[in-house]
Amino acid sequence: MTRIYFDNAATTALDPEVLEAMMPYLTEKFGNPSSVYSYGREAKMGIEAARKNVAKLLGCKPGEIFFTSGGTESSNAAIVAAVRDLGCKRIITSPLEHHATLHATEAIAKERGLTLEHVRVLPDGHLDLEHLETLLAGSPEKALVTLMHANNEIGNLLNVEKVGDLCEQYGAVFHCDMVQTIGHYPIDFSKLKMHFASGAGHKFHGPKGVGIKYVSENVQVKPFLHGGSQERNMRAGTENLYGIVGFSKALELAMARYESDAQQIRSLRDYMCEQLQKEIPQISCNGDGGDQRLYTVLNVSFPKTDKSEMLLFALDMAGVCVSGGSACSSGASSVSHVIKALHNGQSESMVPVRFSFCRHNTKAEVDAVIEKLKGLL
Ligand SMILES: Cc1ncc(COP(=O)(O)O)c(C=O)c1O
Repeated sequence: MTRIYFDNAATTALDPEVLEAMMPYLTEKFGNPSSVYSYGREAKMGIEAARKNVAKLLGCKPGEIFFTSGGTESSNAAIVAAVRDLGCKRIITSPLEHHATLHATEAIAKERGLTLEHVRVLPDGHLDLEHLETLLAGSPEKALVTLMHANNEIGNLLNVEKVGDLCEQYGAVFHCDMVQTIGHYPIDFSKLKMHFASGAGHKFHGPKGVGIKYVSENVQVKPFLHGGSQERNMRAGTENLYGIVGFSKALELAMARYESDAQQIRSLRDYMCEQLQKEIPQISCNGDGGDQRLYTVLNVSFPKTDKSEMLLFALDMAGVCVSGGSACSSGASSVSHVIKALHNGQSESMVPVRFSFCRHNTKAEVDAVIEKLKGLL
């Protein structure tokens, strides 16, 4: 059975060109980047060339890029650093964040007795930035604001310029989870008022287990992992050499193809939305219906019936890989925290499904999925 993969917000296939760039570092250039002889030096050069390339592509300095194991580590490290090293006494986040942020902020707030506040969510899934301002203005204590650039389930985009301005105005530290936007949009850190940002290679056809933490040169933080002097003493441990090289190559390809990929993927997503509305009119869309959302994601709710209840499981059996937005065990849909927050907890009667696309997907695949859905429902 040929499978259809519509879950590119979860992860993407490694690009063959990325693999090609990684291969020498998996084979003959295997040295430890900390070794001083030639093997070590060529490995180190691979990492530093990658750092320079990534920094150029993201509009920042090489010294502001730290390679990590992915989005989760980057967000955890940034949140800890803001509290431990920058004196943030309270944390402002949102109920729509990825668990990497939600659980990290809950843990550190509990451990250190910090105030944890959540920005109100509007019915279209955007955050109420007036409420953010009210929260910021509500206390003179220094705040960490950690909000995601794009929501991984519904795709809504945050106005990061506005949030950066508000953080500047109220002296807050701003961390942004950009896992769904780095590699999908041109990002220029020199124009964004962020102190920290997180990115992950596997979301844009790079390898898994490698990410970046952007740390603005305007802040001084202490090491996150203690040990060797890797990553300029900030993150000890032998580097994921081939992963770092792959991250850089994947970002380079993604940015070179951005215009045409974005256009193609956007029109595919819109086609799927039109076809769904035509063929299964009972569906409703979750999140922003306009342009303030990722071009890669379409999140729709099917009314809950005997047939739709096990929809993800049935689609999997039919060779269609999609997600409900949250980890789903035994094929039964469990509504995610994002969908619950969006509908004020009134989401029992719906079965949300996230379709997320990449440039490898086709109209023929969309047609095939629509046919399968019609059959199943
Ligand atoms: C928005 C967002 N943040 C964080 C993460 C975690 O990234 P990683 O899997 O690289 O740790 C993901 C990926 O699932 C994500 O979509």
